[in-house]
Amino acid sequence: MIILSIETSCDETAAAIVRVKGGKVEVLSDIVSSQIKMHSRYGGVVPQLAARAHLRNMVPVLEKAFRKAGVPKNKIDYIAVTKGPGLIPALMIGVNAAKALAFTLDKPLIPVNHLEGHIYANWLFKEESDLYSLKKMKFPVLCLIVSGGHTQLVLMKENMKFKIVGETVDDAVGEAFDKVAKILGLGYPGGPLIEKLAKEGDAGKISLPRPMIGSGDFNFSFSGLKTAVLYASQKAEKIDEKYQRDIAASFQAVALDVLVSKTFKAAKKYKVKNVFLGGGVSANKALRKALKNKFEKELPEVGVAFPPFKFTTDNAFMIAIAGYYHILQDEKIEDWKKLSADMNLRLK
Ligand code: KG4
Ligand code: ZN
Repeated sequence: MIILSIETSCDETAAAIVRVKGGKVEVLSDIVSSQIKMHSRYGGVVPQLAARAHLRNMVPVLEKAFRKAGVPKNKIDYIAVTKGPGLIPALMIGVNAAKALAFTLDKPLIPVNHLEGHIYANWLFKEESDLYSLKKMKFPVLCLIVSGGHTQLVLMKENMKFKIVGETVDDAVGEAFDKVAKILGLGYPGGPLIEKLAKEGDAGKISLPRPMIGSGDFNFSFSGLKTAVLYASQKAEKIDEKYQRDIAASFQAVALDVLVSKTFKAAKKYKVKNVFLGGGVSANKALRKALKNKFEKELPEVGVAFPPFKFTTDNAFMIAIAGYYHILQDEKIEDWKKLSADMNLRLK
């Protein structure tokens, strides 16, 4: 089966073509055109600019994906596209491109939730370059989604069935990384820059609150933490490189502490067999290490695994994988003519 997938929920215009056969996935092409450079000037993603760039890049990205894959257009069996959540003007470009292709090629169109993509990136086991096998999953699975737009703990008892057991009540953790970077006058996206600085900083130097760590539920809050960083920086005598390192380390330690602590408690409560990470912040090595250490020490029977680094930030390959599981469920595929983008799409 050959799947073409399209992703335009935020600031990456992406298309992938994959072949799935006998539990193995071959990446025939995986194209991501990033707009990071353009948005970094503004310190964050500007939705209208993103939409215009998607419109400019969509066809060239699709052309490149087909050229690289060497697959004639009519050999595609399914088209999968990100329906939401995300920036509405951005999502609309991908959804419309997918509808036009479904119409002209007369192929079924599968709407995919962007977060399903981040979750299913964990199902990939690398066999060799561009070849992955799909893990035979033991449920229940708990996935901590940590991206620029979301912080959620998602429980799965079977494939494609999701229950959100906790989520942020304000900012997403990726957003907090980005805002802290902005406060410190660093670039965008802030996550990788904060991680790099934090490596050389002293996490005990600046005292910051651990929001909602003892709240008794699985919800998160990162807005107050970001403000605490702002106040601490305003009080600081000077913001030199040493201060930047220490505050980055202090912020990251506190944020990861809350994420790991709540994930651990939820894993215990729901007696899960596997814990995964999804979304851009899952690229953070300190988070991976902290989560792995906590479970190895205190709950070693739970498997902790992460998506391949390459597929942690937004890409279309993960959308194809989630699309494949939709197809496996033999779901009634929505009439493509009625498909529209949904910026607030929830996992269910
Ligand atoms: O999943 P993603 O690519 O886009 C959304 O769906 O939001 O996530 C982007 C987010 C940004 O906030 C970025 O700062 C964060 O992921 N991020 C990181 C790291 N790499 C990306 N945060 C912390 N550490 C990183 N290494
Ligand atoms: Zn994402």
